[in-house]
Amino acid sequence: MLNKKSVDDINVKGKRVLCRCDFNVPLQNGVITDENRLVAALPTIKKLVADGGKVILCSHLGKPKGEPKPELSLAPVAVRLSELLGQEVKFAADDCVVGDNAKAAVEAMKDGDIVLLQNTRYRAEETKNGEAFSKDLASLADVFVNDAFGTAHRAHCSTVGVTQFVDTCAVGYLMQKEIDFLGNAVNNPARPFVAILGGSKVSSKISVINNLLEKVDTLIIGGGMSYTFAKAQGQEIGKSLVEDDYLDYAKEMIAKAEAKGVKFLLPVDTVVAKEFNNDAPSRVVEGSMEPDEMGLDIGPKTRELYKAALADAKTVVWNGPMGVFEMPNFAKGTVAVAEALAEIDATTIIGGGDSAAAVNTLGFGDKMTHISTGGGASLEFLEGKELPGVAAINDK
Ligand code: 3PG
Repeated sequence: MLNKKSVDDINVKGKRVLCRCDFNVPLQNGVITDENRLVAALPTIKKLVADGGKVILCSHLGKPKGEPKPELSLAPVAVRLSELLGQEVKFAADDCVVGDNAKAAVEAMKDGDIVLLQNTRYRAEETKNGEAFSKDLASLADVFVNDAFGTAHRAHCSTVGVTQFVDTCAVGYLMQKEIDFLGNAVNNPARPFVAILGGSKVSSKISVINNLLEKVDTLIIGGGMSYTFAKAQGQEIGKSLVEDDYLDYAKEMIAKAEAKGVKFLLPVDTVVAKEFNNDAPSRVVEGSMEPDEMGLDIGPKTRELYKAALADAKTVVWNGPMGVFEMPNFAKGTVAVAEALAEIDATTIIGGGDSAAAVNTLGFGDKMTHISTGGGASLEFLEGKELPGVAAINDK
């Protein structure tokens, strides 16, 4: 259990509560296309409202790089949150985030009211954890609650700096739940414990592989990063994704797994095509590919191998798809793993970002024990790092 002060340990009645959420949701022409992060934030917001707090929500959205960008305004989030909560979420649209609108809106709040501030990254100091903006945010609040697990790996004004200027700081329910699931899986797993790592780059998963090799019974590798491992083992991989700088690292990890007695599973066959295109003719290859071919998914034998490796697992952590799941003809590997996880009697935890998108798009979302709302944050947690947004909150 996360040993931080939580919303259950504080009294917010009549107080101004600044609640940092991760409302960094995908938008298309002003329409939110995936609202999971909004839904995940509701329990904490409802709790603070029910306890009579004046709830001031804040978040970043995208990367406006310190400038107001209308397409990255949080206005659509205020509208959708109002609908989800069944109560008005008043949007304080200040380009400087804490300006006249925000101050007036907060001044006018009654207990249980909700205000949403503008995108915190409209201010350049936000991502530099600057003091002036941290103080501005703190000036609005008597209490600070951090429920933004997805941004907990960033040491920014709204996640870390602000905690220096507010006396009472706590984590929200989402932060607690995420850390409890990921922490239990990694530090106290029911065994066998299997990790599945995919996605395009070995370089982004170096520390995760290294750390998880200390913890798991089996490590399964798929996706674009598997071709670097294949090349390291002397296979021809055509024009598949590869990171030549990481060939030695790949060999080292294979050797480390052997030394630790961890089963390290790599694809035994691959679906290849000559073009990165759903309709490109494809074939299954065992071993080396032709120079003009690229790997786009794990093959049928690998799917069976991985399903068998998962059959008796009791804890599974999955981060990164097995192939180009966005293209139906190259989604079979990712679907097979999702199906295997849906069927087994195990705690199944899905890292955020692409893996969460894959599981949800393919229709397996409700079959998983926990789908993290944090992409980068869950990866850094799996690397064994302390997340600055969590570290900044006092222990109980
Ligand atoms: C995410 O989507 O992973 C978080 O909201 C953090 O966003 P960032 O990578 O832009 O800091």
